[in-house]
Amino acid sequence: MKIAVIGTGYVGLVSGACFSHFGFEVVCVDQNAEKIKSLEKGVIPIYEPGLDHVILENRDKGRLTFSTDLKSSCENAVAIFIAVGTPTDEETGQADLTSVFEVGRQIAPLLKAYAVVVIKSTVPVGTAVRLRDVILQTNPHAQFDIASNPEFLREGSAVEDFLHPDRVVIGVNTKKAETVMRQLYMPLSDQAVPLVITSSASAEMIKYTANCYLAMRIGFVNQVSDLCEAVGADIAEVALGVGLDKRIGRHYFAPGPGIGGSCFPKDTLAMVGIAQDHRVSMSIIEEFIVANDKRREDVAHRVAAALGGDVRGKKIAIFGIAFKANTDDIRDSAAIIAIPSLQDMGCAISIYDPAAMENGKTLFKNIKWCDDLYEAAQDADVVVVLTEWKEFKDVDFAVLKSKVGVPLIVDFRNLYLPEIVTQAGFTYHSLGRAAKAAQ
Ligand code: UGA
Repeated sequence: MKIAVIGTGYVGLVSGACFSHFGFEVVCVDQNAEKIKSLEKGVIPIYEPGLDHVILENRDKGRLTFSTDLKSSCENAVAIFIAVGTPTDEETGQADLTSVFEVGRQIAPLLKAYAVVVIKSTVPVGTAVRLRDVILQTNPHAQFDIASNPEFLREGSAVEDFLHPDRVVIGVNTKKAETVMRQLYMPLSDQAVPLVITSSASAEMIKYTANCYLAMRIGFVNQVSDLCEAVGADIAEVALGVGLDKRIGRHYFAPGPGIGGSCFPKDTLAMVGIAQDHRVSMSIIEEFIVANDKRREDVAHRVAAALGGDVRGKKIAIFGIAFKANTDDIRDSAAIIAIPSLQDMGCAISIYDPAAMENGKTLFKNIKWCDDLYEAAQDADVVVVLTEWKEFKDVDFAVLKSKVGVPLIVDFRNLYLPEIVTQAGFTYHSLGRAAKAAQ
């Protein structure tokens, strides 16, 4: 069976590569000729653990190819996946569907034999119906069904998430489309992965509901963490005691510097927009968005408070600018707000991140970029941990202490045991537990 995947961003590339890993013939299509040329040469445009291996192996076996030519790519394809971007529309706050519908117009004349047009991009409820209309307006004779097949991949573990998902959601309105989709996901259903077959509207809702629920859960934990700090409780103990309740669970219960990335901030905004369109209240998500924005703004203030308030001329070592570990993605990361704020306060910034510095260089100015965390910490008045990279967890505190100007750590990821840090001679501020002075 042949599949075409349109859009070689993170979702399209991971999905295309993993379908080829299942044994299907996959063509990944993108209008960016340079990107396609690089992919053909085996150069992977994103940092995603394991993706290079899957791409190279299947490219070498001839099952995964790359192309800029939509026509030949869609020929004989049983399914055409649309995995193009749906960025936030600055004016409306909603997902901008221009690219999705443009692809619809482009593939419409090619749908001479039956194919399922699968929406992988995250799109608001009703998009499947609108895309159907767009295709039929362009080619009234087009032979196709639409399927909504949202993805639940996390950056940093996307390949693993694709190959071992908790479930696969498939929104279809015809039996014919369901059969094709079931065939495509048979390698997973054979391993007892549940296929959740729904209407396209439900599938579209499932995606937003999952992302908004997880985002709000973290927003809640962040506020509980602040309260723990105020009342002398420990968020790790609270999270364990609460999370062992099977109705609640332990995942997505870690406080942080506010959620970021390309999905949760965008999808929470979009969900509010969808609700407004239908005159339904989503005030709970609106509250979350306000609280999350404030939390990210507070990062710089927390650092300033740990420094005693007067920060002019202080040297700040930032450990991590990626929005989370195992990615080079800095979109909506805590660093994006914190670093300019600290610079405005008169601080000098040094940065080390294992993967995201090239992206950071396009955004931040007047930074000392460093080759490792010890270089970043040289003469620093404070070390600020923004990303939970394992490399930071494994830091040698004795070496770190010998480098810093002042032994002070502000950790927004609770990477360390307070006793270990304070015994090493650092004053340690973390989230949801009282600050501890050096011993
Ligand atoms: C998220 C979802 O988890 C995926 O299921 C979904 O497919 C994806 O969005 C998407 O819609 O494409 P991702 O954006 O890669 O994946 O990031 P997450 O790992 O979920 O983290 C999101 C944010 O929450 C990060 O800023 C992270 O640091 C923060 N977080 C996560 C916490 O602060 N605490 C936690 O316990 C977990």
